[in-house]
Amino acid sequence: MAFKLTEEFKARAEKVCAKYPRRDAALIPLLQELQAEAGYVAEEGMDELAAFLGLPYARVKAVVTFYTMFNREPLGKYHLQVCRNISCHMAGAPGLLNRLREKLGIEEGETTRDGMFTLSAVECLGACGAAPVMQVNEEYFEKLDEAKLDALLEDLRHGRRVAGR
Ligand code: FES
Repeated sequence: MAFKLTEEFKARAEKVCAKYPRRDAALIPLLQELQAEAGYVAEEGMDELAAFLGLPYARVKAVVTFYTMFNREPLGKYHLQVCRNISCHMAGAPGLLNRLREKLGIEEGETTRDGMFTLSAVECLGACGAAPVMQVNEEYFEKLDEAKLDALLEDLRHGRRVAGR
């Protein structure tokens, strides 16, 4: 069935649009609303939102593609977001990302077949003093190394330490 913005969503969206001098300025807040509802922004959602705001689809797609905070597919139970900015990079983030790729058998932007883990590399998480940092759903894990990462994965597999989605 084709995706449709609900009437409730449109009513809320009109209120958001009213806060801005131009309708298209509401694009990012409305994408965040869409994602909050479904956990990701589907192609059809981008299409419908473009029509709602009177924008070209390509502009909406470009915004969703540019910002790593937007997910374009349903996420796994645990969304592993490894910071890739300079402090984390210098403190070993590339090694952590490689370990996650190896252990989970997925690349960035992918989800394991069992739906447990989605892997992302993201921009600065604002905790540079505790680099390298990984966010798992709403929780931060700081000063990570491979041993801590392995232990964390094991805990997550057993439903410990972080609430699943
Ligand atoms: S550089 Fe990683 S949290 Fe800022």
